[in-house]
Amino acid sequence: MTTLRNKTLLIIGAGSGIAQRIAVDAEAQGAHVVSTSRPEVDLTDEKSLRALAERVGEIDYLICLAADHANGPVTELERDAIHRAFDAKVIGPILLAKHLRFRPGGAILLFSGVAAWRPAPGRTVMAATNAAAAALAEALAVELAPLRVTALSPGIIDSGVWDGPAKEGFFESVAARNPARRIGTPADISAAALSVLTNPFITGTTVHVDGGGRLA
Ligand SMILES: NC(=O)c1ccc[n+]([C@@H]2O[C@H](COP(=O)([O-])OP(=O)(O)OC[C@H]3O[C@@H](n4cnc5c(N)ncnc54)[C@H](OP(=O)(O)O)[C@@H]3O)[C@@H](O)[C@H]2O)c1
Repeated sequence: MTTLRNKTLLIIGAGSGIAQRIAVDAEAQGAHVVSTSRPEVDLTDEKSLRALAERVGEIDYLICLAADHANGPVTELERDAIHRAFDAKVIGPILLAKHLRFRPGGAILLFSGVAAWRPAPGRTVMAATNAAAAALAEALAVELAPLRVTALSPGIIDSGVWDGPAKEGFFESVAARNPARRIGTPADISAAALSVLTNPFITGTTVHVDGGGRLA
């Protein structure tokens, strides 16, 4: 295993609860973390990605957690919302791979999600974008080798995104049926993400950190 000590880790989607935990854990392991949120870097805007690449210079690791879900019945979806969802999970990460420069030993971690393997009504775009992120990791791993590219697929995580009146009931029903019998935490995902980034023999695959939720 390599370590994060003195490595530069760029995080895209820093407003996410999972991203915030990853930033804290990576800094504790000695990484230099550059966290960017949407006002600084917008994945729908290639100019902002080019400017980011010039600003950060060579990096070791990239984690892209951005998500802009277009949920709802297919009959009611707006094209622009579908496009933004693909910008965040697929098109933006392709453009990051185009513009960023990595030091030898570097790695990219994309974020997929359990919806790709366990689709549900009203979650069609989420399923498609997450599946595309997993496919993208495989394709980029082949094209950009030896740069490693992997996807991480979380299950249901208490990241803040589910906060609201329906959260408790939803979490109870998910925890009752998934094999881990619990909801995931940002710490669960952070530990897996940093392990994948620093393992020199993991590339071109999707790591499921979902409590077995895709099987339930
Ligand atoms: N939480 C879960 O249960 C779960 C389950 C499966 C998969 N995942 C995946 O895990 C990742 C992190 O999840 P989370 O719940 O911590 O995230 P989250 O709260 O949904 O945060 C997503 C972040 O992406 C940013 N973003 C959206 N569009 C962007 C764009 N065009 N350019 C730049 N940034 C953009 C958002 O910025 P703003 O703050 O500006 O909106 C937000 O900070 C996501 O990819 C998510 O799909 C999460």
